[in-house]
Amino acid sequence: MLESTFGDRARTLLTASRRSDVPPFMVMDVMAAAARIEAAGGHVIHMEVGQPAAPAPKTALAAARAALDDGRIDYTSALGIPSLRARIAKHYRDTYGCTVDPERIVVTTGSSGGFILAFLSMFEPGDRVAVTVPGYPPYRHILTALGCEPVLIETSSATRHALTGEALLAAHRKAPLKGVLVGSPANPTGTMMSREALASLMAAAESAGIRFISDEIYHGLDYAFAAVSAAELSPHALVINSFSKYFCMTGWRIGWMVVPQALVRPIDRLHGNLAISVPTLSQIAAEAAFEGRAELDAIKHGYEDNRKILIEGLPKAGLSKFLPVDGAFYLYADVSEFSDDSFDFAKRLLEEAHVAATPGVDFDPIDGRHFVRFSYAGSTADMKEAVERIGAWLHKR
Ligand SMILES: Cc1ncc(COP(=O)(O)O)c(C=O)c1O
Repeated sequence: MLESTFGDRARTLLTASRRSDVPPFMVMDVMAAAARIEAAGGHVIHMEVGQPAAPAPKTALAAARAALDDGRIDYTSALGIPSLRARIAKHYRDTYGCTVDPERIVVTTGSSGGFILAFLSMFEPGDRVAVTVPGYPPYRHILTALGCEPVLIETSSATRHALTGEALLAAHRKAPLKGVLVGSPANPTGTMMSREALASLMAAAESAGIRFISDEIYHGLDYAFAAVSAAELSPHALVINSFSKYFCMTGWRIGWMVVPQALVRPIDRLHGNLAISVPTLSQIAAEAAFEGRAELDAIKHGYEDNRKILIEGLPKAGLSKFLPVDGAFYLYADVSEFSDDSFDFAKRLLEEAHVAATPGVDFDPIDGRHFVRFSYAGSTADMKEAVERIGAWLHKR
């Protein structure tokens, strides 16, 4: 009796919370399988991971080295080093021609840290927040972990895979929404929203009192047309961005937000309690990264070459259906004529052709079994080789 009570209590003590029960990223399984092939001597072309192959720009590395030589790495203010916040505000003037008060800039631990602060400051537990499918899985998983309800809205080729005001308002009529989150350029699709599409979606959200969050992590990596920031269109939108992608600083874990004025102080209080501040060395490096634009633009041109190789080469190889390849470094291919199980398709592509890609089921629980995401953030030589391998593999099937 005593035994079993103790056992029950121990079980209760050791059980994880329901909110922590979020799904893992399947791409991790692909990476592990690729590592096994490499350990056995195989040469895998990595198109599964969404991260630049290049290191942080030299200006950032030099600033970080100088800070280390100086020695002291202290806490900073919870909202970030003032000179970095001012530099980010200048970035909005230079890039989008819009004035943003540096007071509204919040430095975060990657955009991932930004999502937590954004959701905590904007929503109550139980609030319904719309996200698009296909979409970046942590949007819905972070919302769930924080007790909010992600509401999945499907996008289609009819709207260039952009969420429309009509679709948003239709979902809102079914059951009220408190917020909506979109990304452009988007992951996994690589599609972008035009200025008109973004403005009309934001107007619809505002008319219904739905709070608007714009994930702009892939800004700077736009090829089809210039990306538009939600900060240009409304002071009420919350913009999330990062140094991870264009700035090639994934592991530095640094990003930023442009937040509505009314949220500055609440986020200051939240961040002070949750994290005190963002790693100081990363903040120093990030400020200097803005001076590395020439180096970063050269890397972007490499992605443009890769994009062209895939857009021209994949149809010849046999993969002719993919979404508009507008931005970021992703191509989202429809593989339904070969398989209705994209996980199995990606597994065999890896095992038999040694090309690693991510199955769409990671991003889209509804239709992802028909899609595979290819990242073209790798080298141009690898992209050429990948097209060859995919072509030979598909022809053998
Ligand atoms: C669409 C999107 N948003 C956010 C993130 C998170 O990036 P980070 O936390 O490195 O800024 C990623 C990472 O791949 C992403 O693809």
